[in-house]
Amino acid sequence: MNRFSPARTPATSTSSAASQAKPRTVVLVTGASSGIGRATAVHLADHGAQLVLTGRSTVTLEIVADRCRRRGADVTVVEADVRDMAAVEALVTAVVEQHSRLDVCVHAAALVAYGRFEDVPSDVFDRVVETDVLGTANVARAVLRTFRRQRTGNLIVLGSILGRIATPYMSAYVTSKAAIHALARTLSIENRDLPDVHVCLLMPGSVDTPVYRRAASYAGRVAKAPPPVISPDRVARAVGGLVERPRARTDLGPANKLMALGFTALPPMYDLLVTPLMRLVALGRPLVPHPGNVFEPTRAGDIDGETYVGSPPR
Ligand SMILES: NC(=O)c1ccc[n+]([C@@H]2O[C@H](COP(=O)([O-])OP(=O)(O)OC[C@H]3O[C@@H](n4cnc5c(N)ncnc54)[C@H](OP(=O)(O)O)[C@@H]3O)[C@@H](O)[C@H]2O)c1
Repeated sequence: MNRFSPARTPATSTSSAASQAKPRTVVLVTGASSGIGRATAVHLADHGAQLVLTGRSTVTLEIVADRCRRRGADVTVVEADVRDMAAVEALVTAVVEQHSRLDVCVHAAALVAYGRFEDVPSDVFDRVVETDVLGTANVARAVLRTFRRQRTGNLIVLGSILGRIATPYMSAYVTSKAAIHALARTLSIENRDLPDVHVCLLMPGSVDTPVYRRAASYAGRVAKAPPPVISPDRVARAVGGLVERPRARTDLGPANKLMALGFTALPPMYDLLVTPLMRLVALGRPLVPHPGNVFEPTRAGDIDGETYVGSPPR
């Protein structure tokens, strides 16, 4: 992949690129403290982007920011909860004030909850849907208003294969991803009048990130990334590709097409097999039910989500 546009002026504390001529690509990454957001931030840092990283915890975001700065990137950290429209608007306004524009937003912030629908407490279900669906709407609203003013910009939304199929024990997430896919498609259509404004939906299959360990769990077992699993770096490279060549819909994962085909073409067979398969490959050792990171940001320094999986029930 080519490097993104090289730097014009450093807008924040730690740049090594002040002498270069063209403006760097200004990228806002939500959910940058972990998993795909973190890998994307590091990948884009390697490719000369000017980064603004956001999530619910400055402490954890700064760990990622330091890693990006060591690779020569200009990085700003802004704490914001995507459920808070005012905070998201203020964040986007601050980016534009600081850098005079916003080129790309990679929206990776999300929550997950495991458990049969009726076992997941309603406040947990609601918080996941609020974060995943309304959080995406808030980010898209603020970012697209800016892109429309600029008449250019690229919103890259992390969807999922689970926005195209259904799976048991993940009702809040599956519901949310289906809604996000519908929203992304609508936004893509609505912005067809601006050829340089793009809405890209990236739909990975299973990715090896801490989301499984820090998800709320009422399934009585630790969640695991079901095989076949790809790395967050692989997803980050796909995001980098979309920064350079925007595309409305991108599938990413060796089993996505097969799963989508089984879901749509053979529903009775799919519905028969999906629950035992899910129990076999996606749920591990016993675990005391817990709300994970649903009501609190990733615990400081625990960028791998280890503190949530704790000890098995006695
Ligand atoms: N991992 C997979 O297998 C997989 C597969 C397909 C699609 N995806 C999608 O890829 C994206 C990233 O997932 P991931 O696996 O990288 O998850 P992750 O490691 O848990 O990262 C999620 C990020 O979202 C942030 N976040 C959570 N709630 C937030 C809120 N209310 N406001 C702002 N930030 C918030 C988290 O930080 P704080 O907790 O500190 O706020 C964290 O940085 C999600 O959209 C996910 O659905 C993942």
